[in-house]
Amino acid sequence: MEKTMNRPSHIEGKGIKVPQATSGTGGKICIIGGCGHVGIPLGLSLASRGFDVTLLDINASAVEKTNRCVLPFKEEGAEEILKAHIAKNLIATTDRELVRDQETIVFVTGTPVDEHHNPKVNDVLKVIYEYLPLMNREQLIILRSTIFPGTTDVIAHELKKHFGIARLAFCPERILQGKGIEEIFTLPQIIAASSDDAYHAAFSIFSKIAPKVIRLDAREAELVKLITNTWRYLEFAAANQFYMMVENEGLDFYRVYNAVKDDYPRAANFPKAGLAAGPCLFKDTMQLSAFYRNNFFLGQSAMLVNEGLPDFLVMQLEKKIGCLAGKRIALLGMTFKANNDDTRESLSYKIKKLLAFKMAQVLVNDPYIDTTMPLDEALAKADGIILGTPHNQYKDIIPKVPFVDCWSFWERSKN
Ligand SMILES: NC(=O)c1ccc[n+]([C@@H]2O[C@H](COP(=O)([O-])OP(=O)(O)OC[C@H]3O[C@@H](n4cnc5c(N)ncnc54)[C@H](O)[C@@H]3O)[C@@H](O)[C@H]2O)c1
Repeated sequence: MEKTMNRPSHIEGKGIKVPQATSGTGGKICIIGGCGHVGIPLGLSLASRGFDVTLLDINASAVEKTNRCVLPFKEEGAEEILKAHIAKNLIATTDRELVRDQETIVFVTGTPVDEHHNPKVNDVLKVIYEYLPLMNREQLIILRSTIFPGTTDVIAHELKKHFGIARLAFCPERILQGKGIEEIFTLPQIIAASSDDAYHAAFSIFSKIAPKVIRLDAREAELVKLITNTWRYLEFAAANQFYMMVENEGLDFYRVYNAVKDDYPRAANFPKAGLAAGPCLFKDTMQLSAFYRNNFFLGQSAMLVNEGLPDFLVMQLEKKIGCLAGKRIALLGMTFKANNDDTRESLSYKIKKLLAFKMAQVLVNDPYIDTTMPLDEALAKADGIILGTPHNQYKDIIPKVPFVDCWSFWERSKN
């Protein structure tokens, strides 16, 4: 069976070339969860290729903003495509009835783990059941959320029960949040499908936006997505473990780190230490752990290391300035990644809680969150600083008080 199909490279989007609206040339696609972090970049990319795209979402405020050409969150290169296509071949809506009149339905709603770190497969199924009465047997159904291995087969079974046939494909998203538009046009697209017919239908869509398509079986494709994210989580955990190990000895981790990497190609991908958080890496590692019946010791260890870093950073500051009770601590950066406005699962909030529990007064700043304290004020009042997120806006700060910066963003010798 043909497993990999290469097409000539084509890259459009951010800073390159955004095609103008050409409505009605590529079929009607409805994205359920369409105004979310994955839905928007996908919808815009498809619209830029001439598909008629409906972004269906229960978040009325995000729908309203999108139709007004205001992105509900920061996404590089998205605004120009949104402006070019909205109300032409792209709309956002809360009207579920529009599902009836589509050729393809893409599901990209969230797939969380529960409080015990077990995947909530029922949440995925619930959304499918919700829309099933509005769907028909001719439609291609695409799952794009990150799902627990085996979920595609369960959904195929349900579709067959309902329609006598399953035209189903699993086409996982692997974008870096905030850079979705650029990455959709540059990353290979994995496709698994319940039949050759469903595969070719999915291929005809994704081959218009991805430079390459890789065909796999459903279980393989589900694992590719989970392993992709888990691999990154493990890499960050290794860096964070080394950071804690070296700094705990009173040594500067980055003197060791830089020496390891200096002209040493095999360490080229060794990441810096940093708060490894966000809505995907942790929960996908836990999904993989559940898949391996909780024998995934490496993944569990990575979780302990990454989730333990906030505590270590607070302890480092305590070593520098003594008891934190009554001290004013500037916590700079609350989003889970730099230069982005997404606070989901950010470990800065864990640092904030730990500081508050130690009775410090926490002076929070983030340039992407309006309700936080102005940066100048936080810096002027602070007895100590913890850098939560290395936003570009912080680059030129020369701290005047002791600080903790696990990212090596600032000149360390001045600390
Ligand atoms: N955020 C990322 O960068 C990223 C990258 C790759 C994969 N993923 C995966 O993609 C999936 C979605 O993640 P996300 O970050 O886009 O989440 P999100 O919360 O930003 O988006 C989900 C959207 O679905 C909407 N929604 C929920 N229930 C709905 C319903 N019944 N009908 C219509 N809309 C509904 C929500 O209002 C929200 O706008 C997850 O499985 C995630 O793991 C995310």
